[in-house]
Amino acid sequence: MLKGFWNTLPVPIIGLSPMDGVTDAAFRYLTARHGKPDVIFTEFVSVEGIAAGAVRLLEELRFDPIERPIVAQLFGADPSAFFKAAVVVSCLGFDGIDINMGCPSKSVTGHGGGAALILDPDRAREIVRQTRAGTEAWANGLTPSQTGLPDQIIAVLPKLIEPRQPLPVSVKTRIGYDRPVIDRWIPTLLETEPAVISLHGRTLKQLYTGEADWEAIGTAAAMIRSTETKLLGNGDVRTVTEARERCRQYETAGALIGRAAQGNPWVFQDYIPTWTERLKVALEHARYFARFFPEPAFVRMRKHLLDYIKGVEGAKEIRNSLMRVTCLSEVEAILAELISTAETTSVIH
Ligand SMILES: Cc1cc2nc3c(=O)[nH]c(=O)nc-3n(C[C@H](O)[C@H](O)[C@H](O)COP(=O)(O)O)c2cc1C
Repeated sequence: MLKGFWNTLPVPIIGLSPMDGVTDAAFRYLTARHGKPDVIFTEFVSVEGIAAGAVRLLEELRFDPIERPIVAQLFGADPSAFFKAAVVVSCLGFDGIDINMGCPSKSVTGHGGGAALILDPDRAREIVRQTRAGTEAWANGLTPSQTGLPDQIIAVLPKLIEPRQPLPVSVKTRIGYDRPVIDRWIPTLLETEPAVISLHGRTLKQLYTGEADWEAIGTAAAMIRSTETKLLGNGDVRTVTEARERCRQYETAGALIGRAAQGNPWVFQDYIPTWTERLKVALEHARYFARFFPEPAFVRMRKHLLDYIKGVEGAKEIRNSLMRVTCLSEVEAILAELISTAETTSVIH
């Protein structure tokens, strides 16, 4: 089994969970700078989209070296598209490839991808195998043009990456579709020998409701213990201390933190920032975001800004003004004003 960088990380491994529409290039950069998680995942990217030549999807796969080790997450249902996308991800210099088998969104499961793969074990196994075959073929000298990838994708890939190393393949999933099925789902995945399984302790049906079932995660960890695959537990972890405690209690190799990292890169350091620090990092985030996503896409920064102001006195008014920003200069003006009065503002943590 190829474990790659996964084997070099300190245990427990505490990483940033992939979040579509959240863990974009700017968010990951800020999290790396201020939080330094042990590993970072990108948002998920469609393999069928890449295989069909949707170049704009590669924007989601931009990263800065400070984010390393960085894992590209892929989703889809067509094993041959996973092969091609694995070649692309390898060419782009990522440290690992993760396969999404947990997304509950109908737009993903309706095409047989994400959590729908829990109901389709043959396809799930074939997807892991083809992903691994893609990165290994690339490491053995296969060129992107030999895969039949569209010219527009080939044109934007870096030409020379040496030495060529195959990437470790991991899977992120849920404990079941409409009910927990780890007793058969985990062995199915283990047959394909993924380097890591990240397990969100909810079924697809639960979406994000109720509490993550860490007992089920613990059971999965026990099933995995005799193999070389590592298990990362995931769901409802709010601090790094809590993450370490769950890893100890449920004997997992690590944990992923998702929502608690929104507007809070410090979560990985268990550091509670001052209001001024929050505002300054929100500003830094907005500036970095504007480089990647200038107007009109800059409006997507709004939701990140709202995450930074959670729990602060007068949040409603600040929220109303941030909800209307369309460009960086407007954010700079609002945040400069807030920074000037920050010392006297109260914050509920
Ligand atoms: C807005 C949002 C987007 C998400 N997108 C992805 C995704 O692209 N890939 C994935 O594997 N999980 C995705 N997830 C699930 C998270 O990675 C994580 O499993 C889940 O939020 C539970 O962890 P948490 O309680 O620490 O947030 C997403 C979750 C949220 C809230």
